[in-house]
Parts: sequence; structure tokens; C-alpha cells
Amino acid sequence: MSNTRDQWKSKIGFILAAAGSAIGLGAVWKLPYVAGTSGGGAFFIIFLAFTLILGTSLLLAEFVIGRKTQKSPIQAYKELAPGTPWYWVGILGIISSCLILSFYAVVGGWILTYFVRSLTGGMTNPPTGDYGMLFGSIISNHWEVGIAHLAFIIITILVVQGGIQKGIERASSIMMPALFVIFIILVIRSLTLDGAMQGVRFFLQPDFSKVGGDTILFALGQAFFSLSLGVSIMVTYSSYLDKKESLVRSASSIVGLSILIAFLSGLAIFPGVFAFGLEPNEGPSLIFTVLPAVFSEMAFGGVFLSLFLLLLLFATLTSAFSLLEIVVSSAARNQPERRKAAAWIGGLGIFVLGIPSNLSYGVLSEWFVFGNTFFDNIDFLVSNILLPLGALLISFFVPLKMKHQDLKEELLRGSGLGEGFFRSWMIMIRYITPIAILFAFLDVLGVW
Ligand code: PHE
Repeated sequence: MSNTRDQWKSKIGFILAAAGSAIGLGAVWKLPYVAGTSGGGAFFIIFLAFTLILGTSLLLAEFVIGRKTQKSPIQAYKELAPGTPWYWVGILGIISSCLILSFYAVVGGWILTYFVRSLTGGMTNPPTGDYGMLFGSIISNHWEVGIAHLAFIIITILVVQGGIQKGIERASSIMMPALFVIFIILVIRSLTLDGAMQGVRFFLQPDFSKVGGDTILFALGQAFFSLSLGVSIMVTYSSYLDKKESLVRSASSIVGLSILIAFLSGLAIFPGVFAFGLEPNEGPSLIFTVLPAVFSEMAFGGVFLSLFLLLLLFATLTSAFSLLEIVVSSAARNQPERRKAAAWIGGLGIFVLGIPSNLSYGVLSEWFVFGNTFFDNIDFLVSNILLPLGALLISFFVPLKMKHQDLKEELLRGSGLGEGFFRSWMIMIRYITPIAILFAFLDVLGVW
């Protein structure tokens, strides 16, 4: 048994991988359609505030746990709070991650299908010109989406089995810069369309009259989901970070990149929607039905559509790596020779778990539990219950179970910041974060 623990080769590799986990369907799929239905710019500003204040504090909390122990989550909680049931926070994170990946891979499969079709000419100009119908017919075609779903999982497994440095870091170091470049190209194209300004205004000019209690709480959930918080994934990723790197600096870069992408995402999407007279409040299918229509109206639209789908694919894959990594790191427990088996067994198990979600758009579309399809139930359970619960427990755990001296040392090392920063962070994590989460949590459960 070898005990050499894999590590990120460089700080930038860690930042790209962690930003890759954060930047995913949350920023490029959910945020635009949620902003589209809940007040545009106002939603975005509230989301930004939550991300900057609460998201960063929680991200640092997860980093401190991971880097202090340098262990996979269950072991980390066990080491910090021996003989207590706190390790269940790690188990909860693993269960939540499996559930997220189970439906994430389904959407990943749709993206893959669209991408392959866009290259082979199966996307442009559907016979009726109706992209809503095309989307419906693609996602209800079991074989096509089933194979794409499996292919998405296999790509994820192949990268994760390679380990931290040779697998996740290497893939993220290619995919993330490519993602930024493609985004910039798309934003330039989008902003130079006739009538683009209307979309920019919709996205950036806040209309606070449309903001209700729901919007605020939705924005909070979105902020956590978008930074991959509450499921101990950031505990896992930071456990592979060299002791000398500054957690605060890394966290700032990750939060900064996530915000930048959320911003670019709105700028890439809304101008096109408005320029071609489409509706921004289309809901979850926005990027699948509205965008192909937008691209089909543009010169070289086919090329831009393929680029956009490639970007989505990279964003989704780099998040999927982190979701599988938490499972693999927990199962392989620092023994590299067990990684491969853990990745395949975990990944294929999650594929099977995702089959009902996939079929929710086909034979199971009429199968409702609590009035929703299987897919929607899993999404609701994870995003609105398990994730806030995990985040809440972590915000209790850190001030209660970790020594303040250790926290201070881990947090401030290499950051050039002083006692004041530590104290403010403690106030955020001990009081403000749990109160905000509890508030959001009770609202989701319909308490008021
Ligand atoms: N952050 C990812 C996204 O925005 C989703 C995610 C949530 C990934 C939780 C890992 C853990 O798409």
C-alpha cells in the first residue's frame, strides 16, 4: 500500500480546477433563466452580494477544513471531531454529490448530443423551424440521450481516474482557459448584434419592483450552488493544496472567476434573445430552445452554436469531475491503486442512479411523485434541501469543533492579512451565514 498523496502541481492548477467545479450549469444554464424570470439585473445584484459575502465565507470554511486535515471529507470530520457523529456531514456531502451528478450527467448528455449534432448538421434549421419541438424530440429519444448520458459519465471517469495532477488538473488547465476564450468571442459577437443594448439593459438595469422574498432566497441558493458549497467538495479539493498557499488569495480568485463568468454568461445570452425578438423568461429550456434559434439567425451561426456548446460541455465536465472526485477520494482513501476501480464503480453507479432522471423526459414523464417528475424531485431535494443543510452544518462545525488558533493560522497563512480579517470572518461564519441559511431553508420548506 502506498501512501503518497496526490497534490495540485501549482496554485493556478488548483484555482482552475476549483473554479471549474464552481462554474457550471449554475452559471451558464440556471442563472440566465432564473434572472430572465425574476427581474433581470435586480436578481443579479442580489446574487452578487450573497456570493461575495456569504459564499466567500463558506468557501473559506470548507478550505480550512480540507487543508488543515489533508484528508477526504469523512476522514477530515473524524479527525477534527473524533468520536462524534459529525462525520455524517461528509457522508451527506457524498450522497448529495452522487445525486447532483446523477442529473447533471443527464443535462451533460443533452449538451453532448447537441454538440455532436451541431457538428454533423443535425441542429440547424429543424424542418419546422421550431427549436422547442426539436429539443422535445431529442430529449425524449431514449437511445440517443441514453448513449450521450453514458458517454458523458465515461469522459468524467476517464479524467478522474487519472488522479489530481494528471487527471483533473491537466484537463481543467486546458478546458478552463478554452472556456474563457470562447466566452469572450461569444460576448463580442453578442454585443455587436443590432439591438443588443436592450438585452444588456435587461440584464444590468435592476428592476427592484420585481423583487420579492422568493427572489432573495432563490439568489442565496443560487450563490451556494454556483460555488459548489455545502457538499464538502471544496473540502476535498483544498485537501490536495500545498500548505504554503494562501487560502484567502485562492478563494478570491475562484469567487472572482465565477462572478466574471456569470456576468459574461448574461452578456452572451440576453442581447441575442432581445435582438431576435425572443422572450427571456423561457425557463429551464432557455439555452436549448432559444439560443439555437438566435444562432440560426446569425451569419456563421452554426460555428457560434458549436462553440457555445463546446463551452457548455467544458463547464459541465469540470463540475462533474469534482462531483465524482469526492466519491473517489473517499473510497480510495489516499491509496492511488484503488482510484481506478473507485472511479469506474462510482461513476457507473451514478449513471444507473441517473437513468430515471433521464427517462423523466420520456417514458417516465407522466410518473409524478409529490406532483413532480423524478428529475425535478432530485433537483429540488439537492438544491433546496441537502445543499443548504450541508452548508448550515459546516457553518456550525467550523467555529464549534475547530481550534481558533488552527483556524487563524490556516486562514491567514500567506495572505498578508491580520487579526481583523480573521475576526470578521468568524462573525460571518458563526452568525450571519447560519442565520441567512436558516431563513432561506425555512422558506423553501414553506414555513412562511
Ligand atoms: N457549481 C456547479 C454549478 O454551478 C454545481 C455544483 C454544485 C457542483 C455542488 C458541485 C457541487 O453548476
